[in-house]
Amino acid sequence: MVQLTLPRNSRISKGKTWPKPEGAANLREFRVYRFDPDQDENPRWDTYFVDLDECGPMVLDALNYIKNRIDSTLTYRRSCREGICGSCAMNIGGRNTIACTAGIDEFKGRVTIAPLPHQAVIKDLVPDLTNFYAQLAHIKPFLQTVTPAPEREWRQSQEDRAELDGLYECILCACCSTACPSYWWNSDKYLGPAALLHAYRWIADSRDEMTGERLDALEDPFKLYRCHTIMNCAQVCPKGLNPAKAIGKIKELLVEREV
Ligand code: SF4
Ligand code: SF4
Ligand code: FES
Repeated sequence: MVQLTLPRNSRISKGKTWPKPEGAANLREFRVYRFDPDQDENPRWDTYFVDLDECGPMVLDALNYIKNRIDSTLTYRRSCREGICGSCAMNIGGRNTIACTAGIDEFKGRVTIAPLPHQAVIKDLVPDLTNFYAQLAHIKPFLQTVTPAPEREWRQSQEDRAELDGLYECILCACCSTACPSYWWNSDKYLGPAALLHAYRWIADSRDEMTGERLDALEDPFKLYRCHTIMNCAQVCPKGLNPAKAIGKIKELLVEREV
């Protein structure tokens, strides 16, 4: 398991320990990162006890239990609660993942929950992903063509469609990019594994007619070549994808067109 550093705020104080629910026999302890940049306070760890007999099996269920029954000020993102929207990404037990598909029983003892690492914190478990989404927009994640649009849909053979397997499933949770050491230090210039996986998804699409332009846009010492194949991205992806492999394919295509 990849152990990652916590958010940028280095001084995290011990926060409040909230009372245990009365009469609960099956308790689990959760240590949760709390920070509100609008308040003049250091970040802190708050401790909560969740009655597992009254809570669903996933870490997101525990957060909902805490918010609904103990502390309504706890802030986090979530939407689909089934691993599709990517919004509940956070660092659980030292590993980036999505809370709605992470089982509480996957973690031993006290469960520590923090925001995705090395991003500015908007509040508590909510990171600022403005840069992450700007990088996605930069790679133009949509079909680009020059030939006139067909009367009906753009068609693709089953074999060409299969080339997109392992790419199209990305839910843009940002677990990979925020687990990447190169991204931590160069996120202003390096596009990071998620945006590069999407870049390759469109390069690999047989219907797209801007492959050369897409490769031109990536041929840059920082945007692409900051990837040093450390592989944290593939280890943490909750959808089992391998952004490092996609990055390697882009590099191969750039070399091939030089020879
Ligand atoms: S393989 Fe590349 S993108 Fe993935 S974590 Fe390592 S440096 Fe980052
Ligand atoms: S590649 Fe995986 S970890 Fe990265 S954004 Fe997509 S789903 Fe999340
Ligand atoms: S709530 Fe949508 S992925 Fe977790």
